[in-house]
Amino acid sequence: MANIVVRIAELDDRKRVLAFTSSTFSWGDYIERVFDRWLNDESGRLLVAEAEGMVVGLSFVKLTKKGEAWLQGGRVDQNYRRTGVGEAMTKECLRIAKEEMNASVARVITDKTNLPPQRLLTKLGFRVVSEFSEFEKAAERIKDPLLTRDVRLAGEELITDMWRYLRSSPIFRKSGGLYTVWFVWYSLGKEDLARFVKDGKAVVYARDGKIHGIMLVDDSTIEAKNEKSIQSCYFDSDAGEGVQALSNFLLDYAAKKGFGTVRLWTCSDNEIIESLRQIGFIGEVGGSTEIVYSKEL
Ligand SMILES: CC(C)(COP(=O)(O)OP(=O)(O)OC[C@H]1O[C@@H](n2cnc3c(N)ncnc32)[C@H](O)[C@@H]1OP(=O)(O)O)[C@@H](O)C(=O)NCCC(=O)NCCS
Repeated sequence: MANIVVRIAELDDRKRVLAFTSSTFSWGDYIERVFDRWLNDESGRLLVAEAEGMVVGLSFVKLTKKGEAWLQGGRVDQNYRRTGVGEAMTKECLRIAKEEMNASVARVITDKTNLPPQRLLTKLGFRVVSEFSEFEKAAERIKDPLLTRDVRLAGEELITDMWRYLRSSPIFRKSGGLYTVWFVWYSLGKEDLARFVKDGKAVVYARDGKIHGIMLVDDSTIEAKNEKSIQSCYFDSDAGEGVQALSNFLLDYAAKKGFGTVRLWTCSDNEIIESLRQIGFIGEVGGSTEIVYSKEL
């Protein structure tokens, strides 16, 4: 469609945007909850697209870390889809990311079942870097110490060994070198790992003095989803027992801290997923599998 204008969103756009985003997905949409926050986010730009003088699209781009931009919230009014609006907004997000935010990479996720954005991203040169799945289980006290054997919170003396483990881990490669906090993915560098350790949110599975698994956790989901849950941000073990011991540790840790649900995010690795299922973690139902796309700028 000719004459698509992409511009920075204003407070006055709110009503119109909410009108065409109230029921984007079968479960509704989350735009209403984030519109004001995104509009006022100093490290982000909230964009709208106009066609025929009307606001028909929304998109958000944010600098999440030095050099890394995150795209989110792409929405086009049903009546204006397939007319180039999504493409125009995504290109503008990429321009802003590169020229105004100095980012060298842009990332975005789409639900595995959602094909239109996947096609759009492929058309614009994004490539798939990973796939992550979410599994859930109610928090529970794990009384049998054998079930969490060899698992403990990591101390700072372990950072170098943990980083070495990650550097040669096939799961780290499969994860695209990324971790997630509440539906945003970030590169996992040694300094990020150190931060998780210092915050008491890094867990190791170690046998005979050697690391065989790492789990990073975060509890910010409580605020974002208004529920008491805890998530794993990165999950990795080279042994089935490690997968189970780490997840049992998280179930117990969550129960002790009063969280209701554990949301376990992991890269979609068959062996990890099989081990999680064996101890009752449920995937897909209410959870999701997300494809992570990336584009060099
Ligand atoms: C995804 C979405 C933003 C795409 O917006 P759009 O304005 O319809 O997309 P465009 O018209 O700019 O399409 C650009 C390209 O994307 C691909 N594409 C978009 N929609 C498609 C569809 N339904 N089927 C196949 N390919 C599609 C095509 O390659 C298209 O290029 P082409 O028309 O030259 O073939 C829109 O479908 C939408 O709002 N969906 C609901 C919300 C959503 O799922 N957002 C993404 C969350 S990650």
